[in-house]
Amino acid sequence: MPTEFSLSAVRDATPGVDEVLHFNNAGSALPPQTVLDTVVDHLTREAMIGGYEAAAEAEDRLENVYGSLGRLVGAPPEHMAVVENATRAWDMAVYGYPFERGDRVLTCRAEYVSNVIALLQLRKQKGIEVVVIDDDDAGQIDLDQLEAELARGAAMVAMTHAPTNGGLINPAERVGELTAHFDTFYVLDACQSAGQVPLDVTSIGCDVLSGTGRKYLRGPRGTGFLYAGPRALERIEPPFLDLHAADWTSESTYEVRDDARRFENWETNFAGKLGLGAAVDYALSLGIAQTSARLIELGETLRAALNEIDGVSVHDKGSTRGGIVTFAVEGVDADVIHRRLREQDINTSTSPASHARLDLPHRGLPTLVRASVHYYNDGDEIDRFVAALGALASELSRG
Ligand SMILES: Cc1ncc(COP(=O)(O)O)c(C=O)c1O
Repeated sequence: MPTEFSLSAVRDATPGVDEVLHFNNAGSALPPQTVLDTVVDHLTREAMIGGYEAAAEAEDRLENVYGSLGRLVGAPPEHMAVVENATRAWDMAVYGYPFERGDRVLTCRAEYVSNVIALLQLRKQKGIEVVVIDDDDAGQIDLDQLEAELARGAAMVAMTHAPTNGGLINPAERVGELTAHFDTFYVLDACQSAGQVPLDVTSIGCDVLSGTGRKYLRGPRGTGFLYAGPRALERIEPPFLDLHAADWTSESTYEVRDDARRFENWETNFAGKLGLGAAVDYALSLGIAQTSARLIELGETLRAALNEIDGVSVHDKGSTRGGIVTFAVEGVDADVIHRRLREQDINTSTSPASHARLDLPHRGLPTLVRASVHYYNDGDEIDRFVAALGALASELSRG
């Protein structure tokens, strides 16, 4: 049962907040102390007793990571895999899908850059057709167009829940109702939404869901995970297998394991895996519904304040928006803003058009500055950020 949210407790448990004003949570969030301790403790054990021996000692805790990930998305542990990042998790499922020439894959304007590159490669290699569903007036995936394209026939819907380059939260459950109706395989990229909003694979109705550790879950870098539902396990043989993903059953045969760990590698970052589990446990102990409401409110507060600054325009679309806030400063390069803020220990990032070719150029937008807030950020940080940006905007636009 989540405890009542205490901002001072979560800030006390986040050592980085004393060092930086961190609005780059969509890049990699500041981890809580428990994640840091878990990773460092395991690395120390590896150094002291040996890597294999430390893993054997931590066997139960390593196993528990699957239970934690399962609780995060509402799935049994045997449907969860720990993979090094969200991209590889997604790739292992989508590249392994038994596409036939001419199969149509429906995606959206918010789809993540690496996923689109992969789909384009699959178009070249396997002859699939990639169909981009437009935005509706609010900027989320157009459900009417999606329904019409599903009715024409599609092998897969591959959708990004929350894009890297804006506050949009796509209506994953509504999409799941449509894919269920047309019996279409549904892959959800939940990389930015995991830890940002509650996720439940049953109510979403997806077959595959990919996520990462370091962003809104506040886990270590180089960690990610995959949910593979029953249909995914039935249909998908991963493009890469090793002795962990399959058994070598005779000189000339192998058998793929029957759970989701077929998508994993044998060798992995054990400290990171434990850290990912600690991050998920921490997020669940705070209650994601509770922390989500807070970060959504902080996102809206920041957008409203930025809109008041002369020359600043906010560009987040969607009827439901999360903690990722994107904006431009008239006449000033986003990279300059990012660098000048960094000089003041204020962390943001940028979203270049080349990472969102189905979206930013389509909206006539240049590279944007991305300020992504988390529940542990506070009102004072919003005020400091807005003051710093206001000063920069007036200095730089004066020339
Ligand atoms: C929406 C989305 N999907 C996927 C990824 C890739 O995640 P990873 O870097 O863990 O592979 C990102 C990273 O920014 C992302 O924003």
